[in-house]
Amino acid sequence: MSAKIIDGKQIAADIRDELTAEVSALKERGIVPGLGVILVGADPASQSYVTAKERACEKIGIYSDDNRLPAETTQEELLTLVAKMNEDPKINGILVQLPLPKHIDEAAVLLAIDPDKDVDGFHPMSVGKMMIGEETFLPCTPNGIIQLLVRSGVETSGAHVVVVGRSNIVGKPVANMLLQKKEGANATVTLCHTRTKDVGHFTRQADIIIAASGWPNTVTADMVKEGAVVIDVGVNRVEDASRERGYRLVGDVDFEAIKEKASMITPVPGGVGPMTITMLLYNTVVSAKRANGVD
Ligand code: GUN
Repeated sequence: MSAKIIDGKQIAADIRDELTAEVSALKERGIVPGLGVILVGADPASQSYVTAKERACEKIGIYSDDNRLPAETTQEELLTLVAKMNEDPKINGILVQLPLPKHIDEAAVLLAIDPDKDVDGFHPMSVGKMMIGEETFLPCTPNGIIQLLVRSGVETSGAHVVVVGRSNIVGKPVANMLLQKKEGANATVTLCHTRTKDVGHFTRQADIIIAASGWPNTVTADMVKEGAVVIDVGVNRVEDASRERGYRLVGDVDFEAIKEKASMITPVPGGVGPMTITMLLYNTVVSAKRANGVD
């Protein structure tokens, strides 16, 4: 079998078209959704994510307040900026790009964000509400994965989903979201991680595999059941002298081999990546509507 490639770029473009229409309708009512973006330090991957987020905002008509701070920024300075954005009525969403430099307490910064502006869904209040199935901002990559599955017609109800990776940003929340008693969820979920004794033992039973380990080739073809759906969250730079920039991007799964066995698979790039930004835009529009009492 040769897998259907799930086109994240196209699905993201469809959602962004829907959002563009919503943003112009809001503008007619004098409402401009705004996103406050904070990047501390000069990590190249983070810089390119933040640039992509700002471009995406501009493209659909969301105002973005760009703050690129030096790596030496103190925690106090960062908290002051977050407090200012919490009070700023032009800002509906606050995004602090992670990871932060080691001298800054990430948990303290996330806690300082007004939960009503927590468009990343990382505040403990948002995480708690997500866990008990209450309405809240859902974290962007996990929500993007679920949108990819739903819009590709993948049935999650009753499916066995095996998540590989237990990060707070992807693995833990996506596992949690998929076991909720709601549409686009209702799955039986197994969460594998670095101390799991035999990851393949679990992934071979999976109807859906979500690879979010942060390492190339974590999932190989022998670990995949014939006909499974494979979602690859990884974005890894591997050296490649044949490329002008000296590297190429690969995911966490062995794409070439697995695509001969899976029924559907996401590519890297062009799979989950475009969805993360799209769900951030979505949360920002939802936040602007809530702040202005628009249904
Ligand atoms: N770092 C990696 N992914 C993300 C994300 O979705 N949001 C933020 N703020 N930082 C990240």
